[in-house]
Amino acid sequence: MSISHVAIIMDGNGRWAEQRGLPRLAGHSRGVEVAREIAVAARDMGIGYLTLFAFSTENWKRPAEEVSGIFSLLRQFFAREASDLARSGIRIRTIGDIEGLPEPVRRVIEDAERMSSGAQRLVVNIAMNYGGRWDVVSAARKLAEAALAGDLDPSLIDENRFAAALSTAGQPDPDLVIRTGGDMRISNFLLWQTAYSELYVSPVLWPDFTPVHFKAALDDFASRDRRFGGIRKRSDEQRRGEGVDGP
Ligand code: FPP
Repeated sequence: MSISHVAIIMDGNGRWAEQRGLPRLAGHSRGVEVAREIAVAARDMGIGYLTLFAFSTENWKRPAEEVSGIFSLLRQFFAREASDLARSGIRIRTIGDIEGLPEPVRRVIEDAERMSSGAQRLVVNIAMNYGGRWDVVSAARKLAEAALAGDLDPSLIDENRFAAALSTAGQPDPDLVIRTGGDMRISNFLLWQTAYSELYVSPVLWPDFTPVHFKAALDDFASRDRRFGGIRKRSDEQRRGEGVDGP
């Protein structure tokens, strides 16, 4: 079964650090390296899109020190790695309310997007200051503004047009959502886009997640029966068993 888009909720950095008596930021620091390893693995497996939930609209509730620490790690990561990632065929894109990020973070991310814009093997969407509800509300606002300006007839708004106003416009919906750290929640991730995604929850904390765990998630996905609300397609073997295809 082909897979074009994998989305990941990278959870468990804090617990990983606490288990080792380290500051939570040590978990985030390791988490950034793991994100790079998984992006390279995804590229090598021929996946076209990888979306990583790096900072949610709710993460602002964390202590200011942790928030600024995460931003500083991400800023250093992009400044250091963007050109190498681009050379290796990985294109960085951000999804989320980028205007709401501190200016130095925004600048580094925009540079990384620009620098990697020609890379063609894998698109990595970094979800920053992202929330699924924010995405849906901003799409609704864009469409309402276009309608108000007389550029869009509201009766023409359908699922395709709505999807084209979301932050993931033009990209396939995720086939698979992986959540590390064991919690069974979607946490305001890609709410619209995951309508028919398969879910895979790994107990492994994100800093311990390796390409081997990633491959196990993809193998599990390959055994799923995706029906998209329809009924199961029977295999030739099953049909033969019922005598439909001859003896
Ligand atoms: C989850 O762990 C992680 C986050 C909330 C954000 C930080 C993510 C990274 C630094 C990796 C992103 C890297 C790139 C390059 C995009 P948690 O703190 O919620 O863990 P806990 O559930 O154990 O407390």
